Amino acid sequence: MTFTSNIAIDGYSSSGKSTFAKEIAKELGYIYIDSGAMYRAVALYCLENGIVTADRFDHVKLIESLDRIHIEFSVDPAANKQLTLLNGRNVEESIRGIRISELASKVSQVKEVRWKMVGLQRSIAEKGGIVMDGRDIGTVVFPDAKMKIFMTASLEVRARRRYDELMQRGIQASYDEVLESIRMRDHEDENRTESPLCKAEGAVTLDNSKMTIEEQMKWFRHHWKSANSNNEN
Ligand code: DC
Repeated sequence: MTFTSNIAIDGYSSSGKSTFAKEIAKELGYIYIDSGAMYRAVALYCLENGIVTADRFDHVKLIESLDRIHIEFSVDPAANKQLTLLNGRNVEESIRGIRISELASKVSQVKEVRWKMVGLQRSIAEKGGIVMDGRDIGTVVFPDAKMKIFMTASLEVRARRRYDELMQRGIQASYDEVLESIRMRDHEDENRTESPLCKAEGAVTLDNSKMTIEEQMKWFRHHWKSANSNNEN
C-alpha cells in the first residue's frame, strides 16, 4: 500500500499541528485527519466503561474491549468542522479536556491500541489527498508520504496556546497545571516503547515558536514545491 500523495505532520503536544494541517488541507483541497482524536476517543471509552478508575488502568479489559470501540469521523455541515464519533456518538467536545489528554497519552502506549488505530488511519488515507497529524504518522502510518513535517515550539509557547484554547472552550485550568501536563505528555510521548515521538527520516523540522500561521504557510509552500519537484526527478 502506498500513501505517496499524503502529508504527514508529527510533533509535540500543542505545537500548532492541527491549525497548520487544516490550513494546508484548505489550500490544497485535501482532507484533514486528526489522529490524536482517535486516541482521545479510546481514552473516553475507558473512562466511561470503568477501564480506568482513580487508582487503576485495566490494560487487559481495554485490549478485550477493542472490538467494541468504533471510531469514525464526520463533518458538521453548519460549522464545517470535523466531528469525532465514538460508537456513533459525537464526542468532539468531551475528548478535549485535560483529563482525557493525559489518559490518551496513557492508552496510546498500549501496542494493541496502536495497531488498531494505525489500521484505521491507513484505511482512511489509502485513497490519498490526506493531511494527517499525530506522533507516528511519518514514522509508522505512512513513511512514504509525499511530505513529512516535524513540528515543535518551546514548552512555554505551547502551554500558553493550550491554556488559551481551553479558556476559549470554557474548560477551567491554571496555566501552571497546563504547563505541567504538557511536560508530562512530552516525556511520555518521547519515551514510550511503542512508536515513540521522533522525527521521521526525510522529515523537515518546523519550529513555529515565533511564527504566525501566514509565515508557516509561506514555509510550507516553499517545502511543498521542493517535495513535488523531488518526486518528479
Ligand atoms: O494530538 P493530541 O494531543 O490530540 O493526541 C492525544 C494523545 O494521543 C497524545 O498524548 C499522544 C497520542 N497520539 C499518539 O500516540 N499517536 C498519534 N498518532 C496521535 C496521538
